[in-house]
Amino acid sequence: MSIDPLQDPELGPIPAAERVETRDALRRPMHDLRISLLDRCNFRCPYCMPASEYHEDYEFLARPERLTHDEILAVARAATGLGVSKLRITGGEPLLDRNLPDLVAGLAELPGVADLAMTTNAMLLAPAARTLAEAGLHRVTVSLDSLDEAVFLRMSGGRGDLGRVLAGIEAAEDAGLSPIKINVVVQRGVNDHTVPGLLEHFRGTPHIVRLIEFMDVGNRNGWRMKQVVPSRELLKTIEARWPLRAVGRNYPGEVARRYQYLDGRGEIGFISSVTEPFCGACSRARLSADGTLYTCLFATNGTDLREPLRNGADGEEIAEILGRTWLQRADRYSELRRTDVAEAHHFSKVEMYRIGG
Ligand SMILES: C[S@@+](CC[C@H](N)C(=O)[O-])C[C@H]1O[C@@H](n2cnc3c(N)ncnc32)[C@H](O)[C@@H]1O
Ligand code: SF4
Repeated sequence: MSIDPLQDPELGPIPAAERVETRDALRRPMHDLRISLLDRCNFRCPYCMPASEYHEDYEFLARPERLTHDEILAVARAATGLGVSKLRITGGEPLLDRNLPDLVAGLAELPGVADLAMTTNAMLLAPAARTLAEAGLHRVTVSLDSLDEAVFLRMSGGRGDLGRVLAGIEAAEDAGLSPIKINVVVQRGVNDHTVPGLLEHFRGTPHIVRLIEFMDVGNRNGWRMKQVVPSRELLKTIEARWPLRAVGRNYPGEVARRYQYLDGRGEIGFISSVTEPFCGACSRARLSADGTLYTCLFATNGTDLREPLRNGADGEEIAEILGRTWLQRADRYSELRRTDVAEAHHFSKVEMYRIGG
């Protein structure tokens, strides 16, 4: 396969219009790379890393098992050469990496990166926001499931401090890490009753709250369809209080369906992977902390990049593996999902904290 690097050694950067896009078996381009920096987290959200499973004896990846920043940069560089223009740093909790600003600076310098974002629980964001912005991070998405102290505490597995998370959001805003999106996983009977309060809090701010259906990622969160609040239902409840109007997608493949408050007090989004799957436009590749490339959030297997990286593969070889993997991609799990099969956890899927959402 011929590789199309962004940088011609003699001519310099190749204009975007001249790059050849790599498309998968369903004609979907690769536009985004999500980088899960580490599998550890300072929270134990029951829908992601339930404390009963991720206890103190749980063996997370040892440092040598994780990709180094240079290795991550090599993969990201190869990905941008194949048409990726959006990078997202995630985890686990990416802010647990003390050298995160260095990685951000390296990623920000890659040619063709139009969007460099991070998803975080924001517990450690306040002191880091400005440094990250200065290093080149464009924006953050903060996961915050409720503003009710007790519900928030429960949904962070007893680890979260709401005040610190809110301070993190404020610091991100001050540092210009915007637009800031607030991700809310909605679980029936757990935090659905607190959604209006959370929306009220962020109405009139530039932050965009996105209400996410509880997904059957991985096999350890005890997912049941009855815990999912379909976006349609939530939308009706919200509209009864604050009239909304649907607005178009910002770009093809955007996962959130967008709505604006009719009174002009901002925007919200719905991510409905369970009841209204969006595999058809999925342009995301996911890199786990141990260097496995996954082509679907619900994948069972991925492609190992760590071994070739450590055996001396150069950029072109890594791009070749990436390109080949993408060309063979035909995943559309959400569209084919059968909820009875998903509830029974019949087949193994990669856990969310390993590939970062
Ligand atoms: C795995 S976390 C990693 C980044 C960071 N620790 C955080 O929570 O923002 C990324 C996103 O996945 C979401 N997530 C995790 N498990 C989920 C599930 N079962 N269903 C829907 N979203 C989930 C989280 O709410 C978060 O917004
Ligand atoms: S959702 Fe994020 S904060 Fe919560 S356990 Fe998973 S990785 Fe940690």
